[in-house]
Order: sequence, then C-alpha cells, then structure tokens
Amino acid sequence: MKAVVIYAHPNPVSFVAAVVTVVEEELLNKGAEVRIKDLYGMNFNPVLGEDDFRGYHTGNLPEDVKQEQEDIAWADLVVMIAPVWWYSVPAMLKGYIDRVFSLGFAYEYTSTGPRGMLNGKKALLITTSGADEKAAKAAGMLDAIEDSLVKGLFGFSGFAEYRYKNLFAVPTVSDADRKQMLIQTRELIKTYSE
Ligand SMILES: Cc1cc2nc3c(=O)[nH]c(=O)nc-3n(C[C@H](O)[C@H](O)[C@H](O)COP(=O)(O)O)c2cc1C
Repeated sequence: MKAVVIYAHPNPVSFVAAVVTVVEEELLNKGAEVRIKDLYGMNFNPVLGEDDFRGYHTGNLPEDVKQEQEDIAWADLVVMIAPVWWYSVPAMLKGYIDRVFSLGFAYEYTSTGPRGMLNGKKALLITTSGADEKAAKAAGMLDAIEDSLVKGLFGFSGFAEYRYKNLFAVPTVSDADRKQMLIQTRELIKTYSE
C-alpha cells in the first residue's frame, strides 16, 4: 500500500499533529510506503490563481501542483487530516484541494456529465472539532462536511471507497479521552489500510 497523508495545522504540537504521528506510525507498521504533506510546513500556496486556470487550457499546470498530483496519482490511499474551522477545513487545505484536484486530473467532463478520475483509490478524512458529538450533529456540522468534502470531493473525484471520522471536543475533554481518540485512530488505520 502506498499512502499520502496531507495535513493542515499551523501549530506543530497541535492535537492534529499527534493524530498525524499515529496515522504515520500505523501505516508504517502495516508495511505501507508513506508520504507526508505538512501544508503549512511546505508553505504551500493555497490560492488558485491565473496560472492554474491557464494550465487547464495549455496542459501545463504550475510545478507545485504537478508535484502534488504525482504523489496523489502514486498513492492507493489518500488521508487528509485537519481541524474543523467554520464547519469546514482550514483555507490551507481547501486551497490545496482547489488547486490539486483539478479538471483533467481529478475529474473530466463527458457527454453524460462529469466523471471522477481517481478511480481505484481509497480516501479518508479525519477532522478534530471543538464541538462535542451532540452539538455537532444538532448543528448539522458533520452533514456539511460530509456533503462538501466527503461526497463533494472524494465522491466526485471517483474514489472507490471513502470514509470520514471526526474527533470531538478536542480542546475540552481530558487527556485520557484524547489518548483514547488516538487509539481509535490507530484502529481505524489498521483496518482501513488492509
Ligand atoms: C478559525 C477557527 C474556526 C473554528 N471553527 C470550528 C467549527 O466550526 N466547529 C467546531 O466544532 N470547532 C471549531 N473550531 C475549534 C477547532 O476545531 C478545535 O479547536 C480544534 O479541532 C482542536 O484541535 P487542535 O488542538 O489540533 O487545534 C474552530 C477553531 C478555529 C481556530
């Protein structure tokens, strides 16, 4: 298994960073080849601009986008990890998606409508939230993320299988609860990367 893990958090000692460490460890335990993408650490440019649009027509996409697309094309499993910011993910990750999951790479238009091109791959989105499970569900926060990022991105791009897991109330639960979340994450990776 080849896995690319893409994450967005500006704090290198955040809980998200701890989740990334566990995901990487468990993928390596399973014998996977792993490429980690720390979008803030890479100083990734998340703004889809004129160069990107020109690239759709000339076929010559910006170098940073080409590099990321090579890694996604290489991977069997794409894992994204980020905090929930305003019922979505940080603009850094959203911008990565805007630029890298481009027309002609992630999807194409056919006479019968759009068609996802990342067939045969698996995807997993892991988010962390301030909200607890009850509040997140009541507010429709999880549905919003499911619609926009899980179906809207992974489904639209043709992934064969995709899953979403949120880790709730991260800033307010106990350390023991946070450790438990890391154990759950490890279990999820163990079964999902079979
Ligand atoms: C800009 C911003 C927006 C946020 N929006 C939400 C939100 O919409 N829903 C929510 O449950 N938590 C929200 N939070 C809380 C974060 O999701 C939470 O603090 C984070 O997941 C904890 O993980 P961390 O310690 O790794 O940052 C927001 C935090 C920030 C900074």
